Amino acid sequence: MPTSKIAGIGKYLPSRVVTNNDLLQYMETSDEWIQERTGIKERRYAHRTEETTTTMGVEAAKVAIERAGITPQDIDFVVFATLCPDYYFPGCGVLLQRAMKMKEIGALDVRNQCSGFLYAISVADQFIKTGMYKNILVVGAEKHSFGLDFTTRGRNVSVIFGDGAGAVVLQPTDKAGQGILSTHLHSDGESAEILAMYNPGTHANHWKEEKYAAFDDAEIGQMFFSHSMIDQGQIFPHMDGPAVFKKAIVKFPEVIQECLHQNNCTTEDLSLLIPHQANLRISQFVQQKLKLRDDQVHNNIQKYGNTTAASVPIALCEAWEEGKVKDGDLVCLAAFGSGFTWASALIRW
Ligand code: ACO
Repeated sequence: MPTSKIAGIGKYLPSRVVTNNDLLQYMETSDEWIQERTGIKERRYAHRTEETTTTMGVEAAKVAIERAGITPQDIDFVVFATLCPDYYFPGCGVLLQRAMKMKEIGALDVRNQCSGFLYAISVADQFIKTGMYKNILVVGAEKHSFGLDFTTRGRNVSVIFGDGAGAVVLQPTDKAGQGILSTHLHSDGESAEILAMYNPGTHANHWKEEKYAAFDDAEIGQMFFSHSMIDQGQIFPHMDGPAVFKKAIVKFPEVIQECLHQNNCTTEDLSLLIPHQANLRISQFVQQKLKLRDDQVHNNIQKYGNTTAASVPIALCEAWEEGKVKDGDLVCLAAFGSGFTWASALIRW
């Protein structure tokens, strides 16, 4: 049975740099607070009208496809991970397929937030292993800047996120011991609402009050979005930061150890860990817990903020471009995020 290898990798970061001090015009915060709690110095924001989650995904995909030595017409399946799609539906996968003039191939959208890219490559890996597809494009892209609460009310969330995209092309390899050695996916929905964007959605929490019982379908339909939802800021992401932190620092090391154990490896064998760039403090905690050296962990949240599904492929691409990932290296990708979901992948480059 073949395994999957990363045949090409690309990233795209919008050119607009937004520093912590730039955010002061919208909310009460400080460069010091943001850097101390998250490590973030600046992030990128997409062009307001010219760039979307899909267009950024396309730019990253172009690089990954070129580096794989193929063309968009050679791609036989797309997996697109994002939590901020261009439309409520259809997903970004088909928009990318259209923009890149690909054949009428399958396009799957993955909604696993910060773990999205790991879930996406795990799905792609299974299709490669079974021999179903030969060139799968996996994309993680986010345009957070369009849906954040830029008032002081939303500052605990808004200062953290940035825009960008990363992509890889997976291909089969018969070289023994090379490629994706294993992937590990987990979830615990018990705390789903701790880090979530509730609206728009079908949960109907707003309409459970007795006064709405007599409303007919048409009236309720019009309340899918309501003025009060907007006025109360219920259209923005909600996060209980300390609760996320507590769970992340347990599950991150656990899922990294899981993929190492599965492959009879230890942290000493690890050439590079690419953790999802949630928060520099979380990455540092994980590094300390696993007793990893600085050169074994790649972080770039300082420059780009948290780009959720895009953060792992952006960081992996950056590390590869800097020569930190070489043939034969053992690379671990790991993520934790909303859901909660968490995941890892171990790759022999
Ligand atoms: N600037 C200034 N003050 C702020 C800001 C801000 N941007 N945000 C919150 N505060 C204030 C709060 O209002 C609060 O003030 P109060 O004490 O007067 O009420 C105070 O700072 C502490 O608020 P907490 O939410 O308790 O802040 P905490 O110290 O926990 O830091 C943070 C918040 C950075 C989000 C932290 O909880 C954290 O790192 N959590 C992990 C979550 C995470 O990394 N999420 C990333 C996205 S999810 C993912 O990718 C896994």
